[in-house]
Amino acid sequence: MRIEYPHRHERFGAVRIHDTTQVIELDSGLDGEEDEATVQGRMVSLVPPAAVNAIERRMVIVVPTKNERRKVIEGVLSGIPHDCLIVMVSASEREPIDRYEIETGLLERFCHSAERQAIAVHQDDPGLADALTHCGMGSMVDGDLVRRGKGEAMIIGMLLAAAAGKEHVGFIDADNYVPGAVHEYVKVFAAGLHLASTPYAMVRISWQSKPKIEDGRLVFNRWGRTTHVTNRFLNLLLSSYNGFGTEVIRTGNAGEHALTLELAKRLRFAGGFAVEPYEFIDLFEQFGGAQPSPHPEVARSLVDVFQVETRNPHFHEDKGDDHVSGMRLESVSSLLASPICPESVESEIRQFLASEEIDLAAIPRPVVYPPWETAELDAFRDHVRKTDTFRAIARRRASGVVVEQPL
Ligand code: GDD
Repeated sequence: MRIEYPHRHERFGAVRIHDTTQVIELDSGLDGEEDEATVQGRMVSLVPPAAVNAIERRMVIVVPTKNERRKVIEGVLSGIPHDCLIVMVSASEREPIDRYEIETGLLERFCHSAERQAIAVHQDDPGLADALTHCGMGSMVDGDLVRRGKGEAMIIGMLLAAAAGKEHVGFIDADNYVPGAVHEYVKVFAAGLHLASTPYAMVRISWQSKPKIEDGRLVFNRWGRTTHVTNRFLNLLLSSYNGFGTEVIRTGNAGEHALTLELAKRLRFAGGFAVEPYEFIDLFEQFGGAQPSPHPEVARSLVDVFQVETRNPHFHEDKGDDHVSGMRLESVSSLLASPICPESVESEIRQFLASEEIDLAAIPRPVVYPPWETAELDAFRDHVRKTDTFRAIARRRASGVVVEQPL
């Protein structure tokens, strides 16, 4: 892959947020050696296939899924590069039709045909709640069950990635209609993590366009309806500390993103759809220098956040206006709840909410979970393996011989 290396960034303490750069060439050929050169005024990095593959072998791709179409999920799976371990965390309905059985069936068939391995678990499985309680992540459990939400599914995926001994984790939504886009996102995750100069790194995807059909024509919209709101307030927050206006953050809501487990395990993640914007907030809170860091080793080092604009259009399921409004509120709520959110930004958010006729009191506070760094992975592994919905699909040769077990 040939990818533009950012030459500008903004700092918030130890956090280095790089300007958004572009994918230049999806496939840079087999002969190219790792290289960086300034071409036409921009720095171009060649990340050879072997370097991309070395990261993929150590990466888990978590696919959170909730009632998505079978054929769309199949397409998503087909786009995930071969050497990544797939972890599917489902919250799909089990009545009247057991959609989870359909999902695991297609995952097994896919793994069998492609000689791959995967893990799957259902979020509503009481055994999973039990496993989380036993490993020290009981705050994710409400009653007998794990709390619903995409952020929660991501944390479960990260715990499984760590328990499987991997080093990186990426997230890909299950409702993506374009397998080629999925493939590109994961290649970018790997290339970006390879280029990072620190073990604490994150790569966030900025789609080139999100196509929609309007009046019978295909229109390639640049921004999602939630993203521009979240970005605006995150950038205001950054400006209020640095004293200079900035628009560096373009990926406040990036559902497709990846990070090293070294970074992931130290972060606090928010539940639901507050999860992606809250990653920025938590990076700023923990490593921005505005308050003492619980991880001085990271604060003394560097956290690299890459933002990369991909080439494929992002074509996904449209879940309607109410869904988008809910997501916007969850995003904004994570900023309002932060102790580092200054009054000036809070007041801008209040004005925005008033202009949208949204009652401030109606905004839920985000649920935030403690870092999973202290989770007892052995206890989690032992318990999760015994739950009803847990599936560990081994890599088998066509002859049926098991080559590798995922967990
Ligand atoms: N396991 C699980 N549990 N999966 C879930 C849950 C849940 O509670 N809620 C949603 N998902 C799955 C969906 O099935 C889909 O695969 C993915 O998570 C994203 O959810 P969507 O409901 O499709 O979100 P979206 O497409 O509107 O928003 C996406 O893009 C936003 C950026 O514009 C998400 O990735 C957001 O997180 C992101 O901010």
